[in-house]
Amino acid sequence: MSETQAFGIDFGGTGIKGAPVDLVEGDFAAERVRVRTPQPATPEAVAAVFAELLSQFPDSTGPIGVTVPGVVRHGVVGSAANIHDSWVGTDADTLFSKATGRTVHAVNDADAAGLAEVRYGAAKGRTGLVLVTTLGTGIGSALVLDGVLVPNSELGHLEIDGYDAETRASNRARESEELSMEKWAKRLTRYYRTLEKLFSPDLFVVGGGISKRHAEFLPLLDLDTEIVPATLRNKAGVVGAALYATT
Ligand code: BGC
Repeated sequence: MSETQAFGIDFGGTGIKGAPVDLVEGDFAAERVRVRTPQPATPEAVAAVFAELLSQFPDSTGPIGVTVPGVVRHGVVGSAANIHDSWVGTDADTLFSKATGRTVHAVNDADAAGLAEVRYGAAKGRTGLVLVTTLGTGIGSALVLDGVLVPNSELGHLEIDGYDAETRASNRARESEELSMEKWAKRLTRYYRTLEKLFSPDLFVVGGGISKRHAEFLPLLDLDTEIVPATLRNKAGVVGAALYATT
């Protein structure tokens, strides 16, 4: 019998969020808990927070998924662009499983969001190549072909015009350089046009916190490909992590 419930944890730079997830509905099965991310956010400190967070859900059984904002291959973290360097080489699955006494599977944060948007959200029912991007501190990406994820695409780090793309087009770049939406939209157009050239996707989905303001910037983009806002918003990480844990 396939699982109908799993636990999802979304590990971000400022907060760690967790909730049991109803995998039929693609929604929280109980109220979400949010804890501040410990500083420094070393693997051990974060694992201890996961254990504490889970202890608040004594009835939760079943698999656990956790997002990590870096490359994750077979549970091992391979990059740490916006997190503590000590994550690189950490076997997150083993560390988290030991800390919580449960089976835990780690997944890249954008890949989790991508899985969730394709199964339950903006790309539900869509076939072909869906490219989900998250615009936040960095740029995360998920490539999903006919519902199957190609993990760790890391398209936020494409080099465009001599720059690591996320340093120009992420939401952090917009904020720190105080870019107008028009200026940011020009950079986003350059970014998504490059993705179009490389992948000819059928659909772009735009997630990350700023996606709730999609009406202010998506209409300004000049692209050939359909581009839509994510619909799971800040639930995508938790829901996607839980979904990943069961696949
Ligand atoms: C990381 C990705 C991550 C993205 C969003 C990038 O800097 O390299 O792994 O998905 O930020 O957090």
